[in-house]
Amino acid sequence: MNCDPSQLRLYFNEFPQPPPANVIKAAREALREANRYPEDKLVGGLKNLISSYAGLTPENVHATSGGEYAFYELFTRLVRQGDSVILLEPTFTSYEPILKVLGAKIRKLRLQENGYRWILDKDELFSLMRTEKPRLLVIDDPNNPTASPMLADEDLVREVCSSFGGYLLLDEAYTEYAGYSASKLVPEIDNLVVFRTMSKAFALAGMRVSILLATKQLIESIEGFSPRFELSRPSLAAAVEALSDPSYAFRNADFIKSERERVRRALRPVNGLKVYESFTNFVLMRFNYPQLIDSLKIRLMRPTFDRQYARLSIGSKLENNCAVSALRDSLNSDKQSAKA
Ligand SMILES: Cc1ncc(COP(=O)(O)O)c(C=O)c1O
Repeated sequence: MNCDPSQLRLYFNEFPQPPPANVIKAAREALREANRYPEDKLVGGLKNLISSYAGLTPENVHATSGGEYAFYELFTRLVRQGDSVILLEPTFTSYEPILKVLGAKIRKLRLQENGYRWILDKDELFSLMRTEKPRLLVIDDPNNPTASPMLADEDLVREVCSSFGGYLLLDEAYTEYAGYSASKLVPEIDNLVVFRTMSKAFALAGMRVSILLATKQLIESIEGFSPRFELSRPSLAAAVEALSDPSYAFRNADFIKSERERVRRALRPVNGLKVYESFTNFVLMRFNYPQLIDSLKIRLMRPTFDRQYARLSIGSKLENNCAVSALRDSLNSDKQSAKA
């Protein structure tokens, strides 16, 4: 294959292949009834499937159109002007703009680099919680952009939730890659909300099906104000078909995990580059010469917290080979060696 790194789309953390044929067929067939609003029973069917996938009951599930909308719905229920909210730094960029519009007082807890991982200092977290008494704490677990696990432990989730009077939002967008989840705790912990998405391992980013898991009371309170027809018929049909046999999401995750490790091994010897461990479908890299990132032919996502870093999504084998050669060629070039 001709490798043109400028054509690679490895910056959105998508799955590189379309969903299975049965899922595409279901979405296409739903278009035959595009003249009809989606009935409540379609949403009910989806909630049933999501709840069994997450080990919960349908009352614990709210299905929404995309993560940003999920966060908007949740934050508008929970956060008022002047409320304190703790975010990690770095973290997924969609939370902060919504919280700012709501007038939240945002406090940031900086993650620490620790070898090939980034860690959340628990003592610092608990001390910040004591002084801030936040209304909301948001933890993306694994974290984007570092790809590191954060709490990753049910007992720790319990401890955090019982230590304050606000809510913990655990964003588990990458759970199928990470292999852990705290979603089963939702019925027993009133102040825990878990976010999931069908955009990653289910390969359905274009359908915008995202999920909030919380106690029955909180879900009812969110749904009391949510739009009547939040998801389109094709999105509902695709999600229902996908969850009727979710095994493909785990096969997708296995493929990405093995490619991710292959990419990490291939990039390890490259000059001036550090590639971190990952529990997701992307890797974070640190460049000794950050100015080189701008001259690369491949487009990477550059987190704003520090210009030394860039994020690469894991794609198909061919895409990954192309990305690795592009990085290797640029960084191992004479120009780079001269700088070193
Ligand atoms: C941590 C995190 N949460 C949420 C999302 C977005 O999910 P969705 O596609 O459901 O909007 C992403 C996407 O990259 C993410 O990294």
